[in-house]
Amino acid sequence: MSHLLFSMGRRLEGKVAIVTGGASGIGESTAKLFARHGAKVVIADVQNDKGLQVCSEILSGGGTSSYINCDVTKEDDVKTTVETALRSHGRLDIMFNNAGTIIYYKPITDIDRSDVERVLSVNVIGVFLGIKHAGRAMAAAGVGSIINTASGASVMAGLTVSPYTASKHAVVGFTKDAAVELGRRGVRVNCVSPHLLATPLSCRMLYLDRERMEAAVEKSSVLKSPPLKSEDIAEAVLYLASDESRYVNGQNLVVDGGYSISNPALGESLYPSK
Ligand SMILES: NC(=O)c1ccc[n+]([C@@H]2O[C@H](COP(=O)([O-])OP(=O)(O)OC[C@H]3O[C@@H](n4cnc5c(N)ncnc54)[C@H](O)[C@@H]3O)[C@@H](O)[C@H]2O)c1
Repeated sequence: MSHLLFSMGRRLEGKVAIVTGGASGIGESTAKLFARHGAKVVIADVQNDKGLQVCSEILSGGGTSSYINCDVTKEDDVKTTVETALRSHGRLDIMFNNAGTIIYYKPITDIDRSDVERVLSVNVIGVFLGIKHAGRAMAAAGVGSIINTASGASVMAGLTVSPYTASKHAVVGFTKDAAVELGRRGVRVNCVSPHLLATPLSCRMLYLDRERMEAAVEKSSVLKSPPLKSEDIAEAVLYLASDESRYVNGQNLVVDGGYSISNPALGESLYPSK
């Protein structure tokens, strides 16, 4: 009976998931949450030490996990990662294309072509390759869920550096088209769009530590709430990965406390006391 109750609460029991960028931040939190919900998790990243550390933390908590070095900009690496998951576990149910990068802030007039190529290569080509290879395996099985990490910058401008904004708009484009093509073959494709939260990626870009970043976000936020954490994004990804979202396809789930639906500038100027 206690075993039944334990497994009832586990929303990914028996499923196999790949998490790219799983060594840190949002990917790390999601890999751990997936494992707690019964998924066998393959962590794919370029930070081997950190990836192996996350993996061993999952294993020591009684979960199932493995680590593979995978540079998402390299097609062979992504193909091998999908093949390894299939060979090890016989199936692939969830692909979380989450690895991402950014550059330090520069005005668009000062950005080098190589900066743009680097950001697009990880954030867009990486997502495309993940959709392509996981999509093939899942379409053959007639079922699966692909989730891509976009950003609040996929629905707003002026939040961050322009190549990053462009890359995250492109993630939404790939998500929607893939949702239509692969949806016909039983595979759902969605993306999640986090608001700014403190991770190594965002702290590096803004030269801020966690406390100062969270204070800045809180000051400008719409929702009065404790600060957004990578664990909150993991919960949204869990929903998109699980059967609870079985009819949700082609959506961009924005997790920003309502920030992107509001533009208070004119209201503040008209009604300063509001
Ligand atoms: N932190 C934020 O405020 C925020 C907001 C919106 C969206 N995002 C997005 O969330 C995702 C995760 O970022 P995070 O904030 O957790 O940062 P993070 O730096 O903690 O994690 C990113 C991970 O991606 C890995 N990675 C980078 N390039 C890779 C490559 N070529 N191949 C494989 N792995 C690679 C890194 O090694 C790292 O482990 C990214 O797509 C990012 O753009 C972050």
